[in-house]
Amino acid sequence: MRRKLAAGNWKMNGTATSLAELEKLSSLYPNPDIDILICPPATLLHRAAQAVQANSVIVGGQDCHALVAGAHTGDLSAEMLKDAGAEYVILGHSERRQDHGESDELVRAKAIAAKDAGLIAIVCVGESIEQREAAETLDVIGEQISGSIPDQPIGENLVVAYEPIWAIGTGKIPTLDQICEVHDFMRTKLADRFGADSASSIRLLYGGSVKPQNASEIFSVSNVDGALVGGASLKAEDFSGIIQALENA
Ligand code: 13P
Repeated sequence: MRRKLAAGNWKMNGTATSLAELEKLSSLYPNPDIDILICPPATLLHRAAQAVQANSVIVGGQDCHALVAGAHTGDLSAEMLKDAGAEYVILGHSERRQDHGESDELVRAKAIAAKDAGLIAIVCVGESIEQREAAETLDVIGEQISGSIPDQPIGENLVVAYEPIWAIGTGKIPTLDQICEVHDFMRTKLADRFGADSASSIRLLYGGSVKPQNASEIFSVSNVDGALVGGASLKAEDFSGIIQALENA
């Protein structure tokens, strides 16, 4: 059985006052039946890890370097995130692929570093609107999965998030059939490469404009094991609506 995962990506949002939202969330879910993850900006990671109660919300990073240490000004290693209290790290988000030119190869190297540091990598994939309109979605996702995911992953070190770029922060979401098609495809692709047992242990998240209002229908889709949420994860009340939808799915 895959444990469901409600993951929040705060992106470049949040200062010390935002920790109150995390404390609120943690007190709402002292012992949840699903995994609840918040990935705050790195400046808050250590304080966030201290602000949450044990067995409640967990925290993660939004990126890491592929190397363990060295002369890389401004970067953070997976080990540093772990040291600050992270259990997960988001890798290959489309905003990093776009803003920082991250390739599949680099994302793969980062995922290996995350695994070596004992973090669970959430590797993001997703097509642009041009690619969807050109009917290239499955080709793009297949290529990203082949290129970004290291060998021998299992559910204990890898989560894959499908985030169509055109759905991020736009209020637009794919149809449920479109989500289903991509998630089934990802499961099959993982099974072809790693075998059915490994593939069935890996959680697949949907991300892009997930809100309390649309969460239940998204979670009703097969092979959707949770969500990676941006804007609606910033406030405990909004994220809580999504958590409840996932608990009830
Ligand atoms: P939104 O939920 O704000 O659309 O962001 C999705 C996302 O990019 C999560 O990583």
